[in-house]
Amino acid sequence: MMRRGVLLFGGVLLFAAQPAAFASSCESCHFESDPALVEGVRSSVHAQVGCHGCHGGNPAVADEAAMTDDPSFKGKPDRKDIPNFCGGCHSDVRKMNPFRLPTDQLAHYKTSKHGERLFGAGDDNVAVCADCHGSHGIKRPKDPASSVHPTNVPATCGQCHSDAAKMSKYKLSAAHPADYERSVHAHALRVRKDLSAPTCATCHGNHGAVPPGVRDVSEICGSCHIREAESFSKSPHAAVTAAGKMKACVSCHSNHAILHPTEDLLRTACRECHQRPDDNALDVRDEFLAGFGQLRRDLSDVSGELHKAAVRGFEVGEAQVQMEEAKTALIALTPAQHALNLVDLSKVIRENTDRLDQIRQSIKKKILSEGVRRLMFVPIFIFLLVLSIACAAKRAEVEQTNGRP
Ligand code: HEC
Ligand code: HEC
Ligand code: HEC
Ligand code: HEC
Ligand code: HEC
Ligand code: HEC
Ligand code: HEC
Ligand code: HEC
Ligand code: HEC
Repeated sequence: MMRRGVLLFGGVLLFAAQPAAFASSCESCHFESDPALVEGVRSSVHAQVGCHGCHGGNPAVADEAAMTDDPSFKGKPDRKDIPNFCGGCHSDVRKMNPFRLPTDQLAHYKTSKHGERLFGAGDDNVAVCADCHGSHGIKRPKDPASSVHPTNVPATCGQCHSDAAKMSKYKLSAAHPADYERSVHAHALRVRKDLSAPTCATCHGNHGAVPPGVRDVSEICGSCHIREAESFSKSPHAAVTAAGKMKACVSCHSNHAILHPTEDLLRTACRECHQRPDDNALDVRDEFLAGFGQLRRDLSDVSGELHKAAVRGFEVGEAQVQMEEAKTALIALTPAQHALNLVDLSKVIRENTDRLDQIRQSIKKKILSEGVRRLMFVPIFIFLLVLSIACAAKRAEVEQTNGRP
């Protein structure tokens, strides 16, 4: 009885392990030696392409002649040949059009450091298509299980770019993936699940993996940080960048370990390049530090006064609206600060000082008019008091007269 149960169970397992139907002799024969490989292909984006689509051979022949006797059989491609192996279909417009896929990957790859090094120097330590995509379980990039889904890209690049032994040969740092994981961008991607945050491939390109040049950097960062880039383009550093002497945004923010910037960055970043104590740049920096400081202090003071007035029951709706405007102006100053324009700074300070003065005035007025309103009760109270005394006196008088015998 027990034995029959085990046999039955084993039979069910065997049945479950056998795919419903093999699409080719390649699948059915290879399933015996490597079921994971075959299952991988069957659940991949290339399920329809099939083994023979990539490797050639005759999928209708049931023995090894399917491989050995067929001139189209390619066997296992050498690492160096993989780009052309995949590109054979992916660069072919006729093959890709029905699937509306672009055909530029191989062309872009050839212009990348990876491609240049592979085709130029025959160095196959660089990434080839299969390093980033896999070969037998390739998924669509949008699939969270794909090795090139944004959340997996850093680890995919990290296979090599975190490998110090491999990178030292090229004098490249192996810290980029770890630095990236500490950044605001990784935080947005991993903690806030914000897929619009950049990963390695957003900044370096999917296939054209090259470090962005000096001039590209502000454009790459600026494609998302539009206000900062606009202000930066009006700063004295724009011309310095255009002349190739400065690396735009990354000069102050770095490229991979980008952290949440505060005033501290303003305090430290300028010194990297402006070391002379009499450098005008440091005066500009100090004006901004003082300006930010004053605005934040004033805002917090007036905000406190406003809060107290609200707690005491004064109607402060209008002042609160003005307060929000003042806060917004301060928030907008951080991106605008990138222009390093003192005229703009003093304009913002003037406008906000006026706004905060108005709020102060309106709180004062409210308190004053409330006081006046309360004072108005005094004569009424005295009048009522006099009246009630008079009434009481009258009543006493009447009672006295009525009580007379
Ligand atoms: C009768 C079984 C059988 C059939 C049918 C078969 N193969 Fe194979 N194939 C093998 C064996 C055995 C090997 C060598 C051992 C190994 O690498 O798994 C092999 C090796 C390979 C290799 C690796 C070659 C190398 O250079 O290392 C590829 C690729 C391959 N087969 C693809 C195919 C394709 C495509 C088809 C269908 C057109 C096919 N096979 C049909 C049994 C088969
Ligand atoms: C998208 C193209 C593609 C498809 C489809 C594909 N292969 Fe491969 N195959 C490759 C590449 C690329 C390599 C070499 C790189 C590697 O080793 O991962 C490879 C390597 C192999 C090897 C050598 C051993 C190994 O595991 O690396 C075998 C065997 C093989 N393929 C069998 C198959 C079989 C069987 C199928 C169908 C079930 C199949 N392939 C479908 C691209 C493909
Ligand atoms: C025989 C032609 C052929 C070869 C060789 C081939 N592919 Fe494909 N590939 C296709 C087709 C066709 C599709 C579209 C399938 C679909 O959308 O259903 C595709 C889809 C893809 C996709 C998904 C694209 C998307 O956005 O949906 C990726 C990624 C991909 N292939 C990578 C590779 C890599 C890497 C290799 C080499 C290891 C390779 N392909 C080799 C034909 C091929
Ligand atoms: C250095 C890693 C890397 C290499 C090498 C690489 N890819 Fe990609 N590939 C990516 C990334 C990342 C994406 C995009 C993911 C996304 O859209 O979010 C991608 C997307 C694709 C797509 C989807 C359509 C498209 O163009 O966006 C195809 C097809 C593709 N790659 C094929 C190839 C082929 C063929 C090769 C080799 C010539 C190759 N890839 C080499 C990383 C790589
Ligand atoms: C299989 C290993 C491997 C993988 C995976 C890989 N790379 Fe590379 N990469 C290299 C090697 C090796 C070099 C050195 C080539 C050179 O400098 O000549 C390199 C060079 C680069 C460079 C040029 C650096 C320079 O200044 O020379 C960039 C940028 C780059 N890779 C980005 C990426 C990105 C982004 C990814 C993931 C999408 C990635 N790589 C995946 C091995 C890899
Ligand atoms: C926000 C954009 C951005 C992201 C995300 C990013 N990089 Fe970079 N990376 C850059 C810029 C800009 C440079 C060039 C900086 C310079 O010239 O100082 C660079 C330089 C590089 C270099 C060459 C510099 C060298 O000498 O070492 C490599 C390699 C590299 N990045 C790999 C990666 C990898 C791997 C990832 C993901 C873990 C990644 N990058 C993520 C912007 C980015
Ligand atoms: C693909 C879009 C994208 C690109 C490209 C990009 N970023 Fe970001 N960046 C983001 C997102 C999303 C956040 C998170 C926003 C947040 O925290 O509200 C962010 C956050 C930041 C922050 C922190 C802001 C804060 O208030 O804490 C800085 C600084 C920054 N990025 C600088 C850069 C620099 C420098 C580059 C170029 C090397 C760059 N970014 C490239 C999308 C991008
Ligand atoms: C000269 C140094 C410097 C350069 C160059 C620079 N930044 Fe900044 N950036 C700063 C400082 C300092 C702050 C923080 C100011 C503060 O909070 O007091 C900042 C703040 C930011 C913030 C956060 C804004 C916010 O609203 O909180 C982002 C995003 C940013 N920068 C992106 C960029 C981009 C994109 C570029 C290139 C176009 C760039 N930065 C160039 C110094 C610089
Ligand atoms: C990567 C180097 C670098 C960093 C970092 C840097 N600057 Fe500059 N800056 C320059 C160069 C180069 C010039 C043009 C030559 C000069 O006038 O010194 C310049 C010019 C200026 C100018 C115009 C010079 C003038 O005399 O009017 C101002 C203002 C300025 N920088 C402010 C700053 C401030 C503020 C910071 C910090 C938030 C900063 N810079 C950070 C490189 C840098």
